[in-house]
Amino acid sequence: MSLTKLIDWLDERFEIRRDLERALRRTVPRHATGAVYCLGGIAFLAFMVEVVTGIALARYYQPNAALAYESVRVITYEVPLGSLVRSLHYWAGNVMVAAVLLHMLRVYFMGAYRKPRELNWVVGVALLLLTFTFGFSGYALRWDVASYGATSIVVLAPASLPFAGAWVMKVFLGDLAITGETLTRLYFLHVFLLPMAAFVLMLIHFLIVRRQGIASYM
Ligand code: HEM
Repeated sequence: MSLTKLIDWLDERFEIRRDLERALRRTVPRHATGAVYCLGGIAFLAFMVEVVTGIALARYYQPNAALAYESVRVITYEVPLGSLVRSLHYWAGNVMVAAVLLHMLRVYFMGAYRKPRELNWVVGVALLLLTFTFGFSGYALRWDVASYGATSIVVLAPASLPFAGAWVMKVFLGDLAITGETLTRLYFLHVFLLPMAAFVLMLIHFLIVRRQGIASYM
């Protein structure tokens, strides 16, 4: 069935054509056509690559302290196309961090955070922190010496909190040291909590952009 036929079929039943037209045929305003306006879209595209390659990696990755390192080795050297998928996941993650930072600079230097877009700036800051947390939790999943060291530095920091340090460690890491339990929690964070939060925040971010339009300057 061709796409047009499918749309006809759906339109007969749900009258979707009008809504689709309205959603897809919006003209980009003349002032917002430069390359810097694509940075948010590039960040989103990189995120979608992360989702697709991440699902493929999760098919083989083992979030278990005894098996994690070996499963990464198997993905890289034994699974067909494993090395390619892993590299795509790694590079799209880097592109996402760079694009988000440049997008934020674009918004800042063009003053697009000002009234009435303050709330979208705040949503953006949450997306920035989320992007960094994706990177950090993903790096921990390699479970090699370097990643174990980097993870220790970040996750043991809360231990030095006055009074609440031990409690925070127990709740977030599952233990007072970095153990298999920590790996399980970081895995859950990386493949479930963060992606869910990212979808919700991105949806809000895009709906606000849609409602307010792209800021114009000068
Ligand atoms: C995963 C992260 C992000 C994605 C996918 C994303 C995506 C987008 C997209 C597609 C737009 C439309 C215009 C454009 O691309 O420039 C936009 C606009 C905007 N973004 Fe983001 N963004 C992200 C992070 C951020 C961050 C970190 C900030 C600031 C702290 C931010 C603040 C804004 C604001 C204020 C606008 C409206 C700009 C205008 O009207 O000119 N975003 N975002």
